[in-house]
Amino acid sequence: MATDSAPLKEPADSVPATGTTGVEPLVRFDKVVKRYGDHVVLDELDFTVRRGEHVTLIGPSGSGKTTILRLLMTLEKVSDGVIWVDGSPLSHTRRPDGSLRPAGEKQLRESRKKIGMVFQQFNLFPNMKVLQNITEAPVNVLGMEREEAEARARELLDLVGLSGKVDAHPSQLSGGQQQRVA
Ligand SMILES: Nc1ncnc2c1ncn2[C@@H]1O[C@H](COP(=O)(O)OP(=O)(O)OP(=O)(O)O)[C@@H](O)[C@H]1O
Ligand SMILES: [Mg+2]
Repeated sequence: MATDSAPLKEPADSVPATGTTGVEPLVRFDKVVKRYGDHVVLDELDFTVRRGEHVTLIGPSGSGKTTILRLLMTLEKVSDGVIWVDGSPLSHTRRPDGSLRPAGEKQLRESRKKIGMVFQQFNLFPNMKVLQNITEAPVNVLGMEREEAEARARELLDLVGLSGKVDAHPSQLSGGQQQRVA
């Protein structure tokens, strides 16, 4: 990755945008530009993640790693280019003629439901127990029945070895345990 003086740009010999299998990648950055004022952070970045693939972003401080994640979370808007998720434009709406226009707030809210992010700081609700921390969003954002959300939360806690912590508060957990709850 580049530093502040040299914006992040993928080398020309990197993986083609459609991947080697010809199957549409789960995430595709297509010539994505991100500028803050005159400061170009991402310069026509082409970047793909295929289904099931694990990707690590490594680069100097300030080179644009968090910016890529914030764009993918729709917490930031691209200055130019398009981000595709599962074949649909994340931050754009397709017109009947196939051209793209920037998405409105309603579509962005829908897009956000499909993408999750574990923050560097865990952002758990300190006043809520583990189970409630996990069920708040599915119940209040997705409209899931509380009973179903709690059953799913217990399954997930079991999966990450935290069954014994459903009634703990975040302050009673280690850093790694808090991250697993997040
Ligand atoms: N809201 C903003 N306004 C202006 N500039 C910003 C903003 N957010 C980030 N930047 C700048 O964009 C560049 C990339 O920041 P980013 O947070 O993506 O870096 P990073 O690669 O995640 O760094 P680190 O390894 O330190 O976390 C930095 O130069 C930063 O100062
Ligand atoms: Mg960062």
